[in-house]
Amino acid sequence: MSVLEIRDLHVSVGEGDDAKEILRGVDLTVRSGETHAIMGPNGSGKSTLAYSIAGHPKYTITGGTVTLDGEDVLAMSVDERARAGLFLAMQYPVEVPGVSVSNFLRTAATAVKGEAPKLRSWVKDVKTEMAGLEMDPAFAERNVNEGFSGGEKKRHEILQMRLLKPRVAILDETDSGLDVDALRIVSEGVNRTRADGDVGVLLITHYTRILRYIKPDFVHVFVNGRIVEEGGPELAEKLENEGYASYVKGSTEVASA
Ligand SMILES: Nc1ncnc2c1ncn2[C@@H]1O[C@H](COP(=O)(O)OP(=O)(O)O)[C@@H](O)[C@H]1O
Ligand SMILES: [Mg+2]
Repeated sequence: MSVLEIRDLHVSVGEGDDAKEILRGVDLTVRSGETHAIMGPNGSGKSTLAYSIAGHPKYTITGGTVTLDGEDVLAMSVDERARAGLFLAMQYPVEVPGVSVSNFLRTAATAVKGEAPKLRSWVKDVKTEMAGLEMDPAFAERNVNEGFSGGEKKRHEILQMRLLKPRVAILDETDSGLDVDALRIVSEGVNRTRADGDVGVLLITHYTRILRYIKPDFVHVFVNGRIVEEGGPELAEKLENEGYASYVKGSTEVASA
């Protein structure tokens, strides 16, 4: 049983006079076994939330707390966050020249677990998970992110999540750039992780379509750097029909009042 707790989180980007507050007091609790969808318009700060939890150096925490099972996440290095069981899909978005997917995954698993996984079971696990995501075995020998298509990047993220078995997984725009078939395959990968049990999932998305495949327990509407409404899956349906216009208008009035 794990709990990720975000309390009154304030985050800025930029330095000195250019500093701009992006997150303006985020409160959120994700427990293992729960799937939370964060939904909001472009530019509302959803990725900033994900990057801040990941420990991206561009984002300055100016207030609030993030804890995982009571441990201060904000005091941890990026590696410590991974070892603590946090998985952030876009943690390593860069090309890693000369490092194959296969070596990368094994190095990541060794770092997270504190010891190298047993070779025989590891090879089998990688094969099984790649097959589950309908990935060509040759993909394992390609260099990380080098020439990956949008769909390959997303599958690679979900492959990492499958193999690293996190306690809390944060997936940012996992649906972007995927065609319908790829979306289904990737969603099924996420659902297998949920079915394995004991993982908390924070699914960040602009569009409702991924929620047809991954059913959230809770939906949070995110506008202008904070959560403005919360509900169950029915809230996603309302957003599908009505969009974010009413929330955005409301938040502008508050901001200029
Ligand atoms: N590194 C950065 N430097 C400057 N502005 C940033 C940076 N990251 C995010 N922002 C700004 O913060 C706001 C929220 O961005 P983002 O978190 O990417 O939103 P979303 O993921 O909801 O589309 C935007 O106005 C964006 O321009
Ligand atoms: Mg984003």
